[in-house]
Amino acid sequence: LIASLESVEQSYVMIKPDGVQRGLVGEIITRFEKKGFVLKGLKLFQCPQELAEEHYKDLKSKSFFPKLIEYITSGPVVCMAWEGVGVVLAARKLIGSTNPLQAEPGTIRGDLAVQTGRNVIHGSDSPDNGQREIGLWFNEVELCQWIPAQRPWLYE
Ligand code: PPS
Repeated sequence: LIASLESVEQSYVMIKPDGVQRGLVGEIITRFEKKGFVLKGLKLFQCPQELAEEHYKDLKSKSFFPKLIEYITSGPVVCMAWEGVGVVLAARKLIGSTNPLQAEPGTIRGDLAVQTGRNVIHGSDSPDNGQREIGLWFNEVELCQWIPAQRPWLYE
């Protein structure tokens, strides 16, 4: 069964400080659990400046970069590693467009946020970045290898 799950991927998903402060953690985790993804890592974490800069290093030249770093380090975030078939794209769909005003109702940003600079949640944009970001935010021992009992009911 496991070998037949060819496109199992991992996505790094992070509830940003505004999501934590607004009490949205349970609601957001619930959406990923209900979809059928598997939680491999989870922690509340105060992000140091250097890690924020490394995570968003591709955006260093953007005018909003300093504000983005200030935002991400402004309070605790919830770091998550989610696993599943097609999880990277599916997580982006659950999350919705970067600008919450353009995000569809039913998505996390569409339902729960207003501004890009307070868009509540991050999700990896590719499987490669999923691996990179999980490696950046988690130590090996913080990631659990487990097979949930629901697996035969999720995948044929
Ligand atoms: S870009 O400009 O095309 O690279 O932007 P995009 O890929 O849409 O977004 C990359 C991440 O930057 C965040 N972002 C912003 N933060 C604060 N202010 C402004 N104006 C802004 N614009 C983009 C955006 O939320 C993305 O972060 P993550 O954490 O990946 O959602």
